[in-house]
Amino acid sequence: MRKRIVAGNWKMNTTLAEGMELTKSVIEKSITVPKTIELVLIPPFTSINEITKLTKGTAVKVGAQNCAEWVKGAYTGEVSATMISSIGATYVVIGHSERREFFNEDNKMLYRKIKQALENRLIPIYCCGEKLNERESNKYFEVVEKQVSESLFELTKEQMMQVVIAYEPVWAIGTGKNATSQQAQDMHAFIRTTIAKKFGKEVADSISILYGGSCKPSNAEEIFARPDVDGGLIGGASLVADDFIAIACSF
Ligand code: 13P
Repeated sequence: MRKRIVAGNWKMNTTLAEGMELTKSVIEKSITVPKTIELVLIPPFTSINEITKLTKGTAVKVGAQNCAEWVKGAYTGEVSATMISSIGATYVVIGHSERREFFNEDNKMLYRKIKQALENRLIPIYCCGEKLNERESNKYFEVVEKQVSESLFELTKEQMMQVVIAYEPVWAIGTGKNATSQQAQDMHAFIRTTIAKKFGKEVADSISILYGGSCKPSNAEEIFARPDVDGGLIGGASLVADDFIAIACSF
């Protein structure tokens, strides 16, 4: 069975003290979450080190929101995959739409970031998803196919099997307007077919595809019930421990 993952992307929120409080609360409440669900906290860089210490010995995993496309060197302000891995994080979000939009990250650059992540034994959560105008002009499959093929198709089969994909339609992020469970299922199935055509059905069937975009306790159950939805990448609702845990309990 595919791994089911509920990951909280905190984005540029939480001081160290706030992040530690939130983590303690999530750990405490996580006893109600089925053991088959992997919980991942994705705080800002400044909190990762302390938060991995707090989660040590628990089932809660920690990730980063981004990594550099380079190994090391004169890249002021960047954080490498090696550095992230060295402080105990095990996941890294790659290609979130906010990074594509505000930092001009493109599919080829994201391929290099994914390679860095994999070479440092981090699990990349590769984000894809169309903008509102692309949804409205019925270009969404085309857009996501390009994102998936340009960033992932140069990986080996073995590497591809390590990747988690998150489908996050940009029009659903932080808007309160989630994709319907049917829209999510249709896109997740399309992504899986796209992966299958390149890497084979076995690989496609083994990878987890998460949904992200205004996912909350009131809609998670319906979305997670769809066969190709293997979990969620949660923004706003992951900043409230009760909501995050309620979402994780929605499987
Ligand atoms: P929201 O859940 O706040 O819509 O954000 C989703 C997201 O961008 C997770 O990466």
